[in-house]
Amino acid sequence: MPLVPTGQVVAAGPVCAFNVITLEHAEAIVAGAEAAGRPVVLQVSENAVRFHRRLAPVAAATRAVAAAATVDVALHLDHVVSADLWRQAPEHGFGSVMIDASRLPYQENVAATRAAAEFAHAHGLWVEAELGTVGGKDGEPPIDPHAPGARTEPAEAASYVAQTDVDALAVAVGSAHAMTVRDAALDHDLIERLRAAIAVPLVLHGSSGVPDDELRRAVAGGIGKVNIGTALNVALTGSVRRTLDVHPEMVDPRRWLAPAREAMAECVAHFCRVVSGDAAAGAGSGLASTGAVP
Ligand code: G3H
Ligand code: ZN
Repeated sequence: MPLVPTGQVVAAGPVCAFNVITLEHAEAIVAGAEAAGRPVVLQVSENAVRFHRRLAPVAAATRAVAAAATVDVALHLDHVVSADLWRQAPEHGFGSVMIDASRLPYQENVAATRAAAEFAHAHGLWVEAELGTVGGKDGEPPIDPHAPGARTEPAEAASYVAQTDVDALAVAVGSAHAMTVRDAALDHDLIERLRAAIAVPLVLHGSSGVPDDELRRAVAGGIGKVNIGTALNVALTGSVRRTLDVHPEMVDPRRWLAPAREAMAECVAHFCRVVSGDAAAGAGSGLASTGAVP
């Protein structure tokens, strides 16, 4: 199955987008999407690039895994602040990029995002940007997702999309990054008002902490792309801990990475089924709709 443009899978959505850190993440995401029979977005964040020290190795590995998938897969560069990084997206095979200027004051966010979108569109990339504050980003102090300022305002969002020409908008509607418990309560009324105010797809960040029923309501209300990262890391790390607790003598990483990769794949399949409205999502997944992230 060839790589497909991000705009294509989002248009056919709703679709899940999972963060790739290691090769095993990419393999697990594709395996889980194939098990669910759903298209998927593989996304590499600027933080993940920083971890690997450069883009090329993680991009090449992710691209190779995606190219061998039996479902449609799109490649996305996520939460990019550095212009040097988003300018590298086309040469490494990414179909889209999220320009994250959300830390800037509104007018500066508009100017930076518009300039980035011009470059990206000239190179055939689909562009996502963020307006409002989805807290919990790496290296930032936590914010209360229910605080009054932590919401995207619909009229401002409409103006922002018109001025920046972005193809999708990440919105602050009650989720937060890096949650390890699935108890976020989304503002569904706001999602519907945002959906009515702007024509481009809405993106939900920090979806690991959102319970299944809240995710179902969110996509029914107009969320088109659901970003999930932390849930995979919880599945990976929990599996490794369990394996090594039972087998402290193990040293070959393949022995403890294999079940960890499987745990991530099951997590991916579950989220894909929930977001696509597959009634089988609840059955046999072993995942609670609230409580600890799977
Ligand atoms: O852009 C990535 C997502 O927002 C991931 O958030 O790690 O809280 O699921 P999460
Ligand atoms: Zn995010």
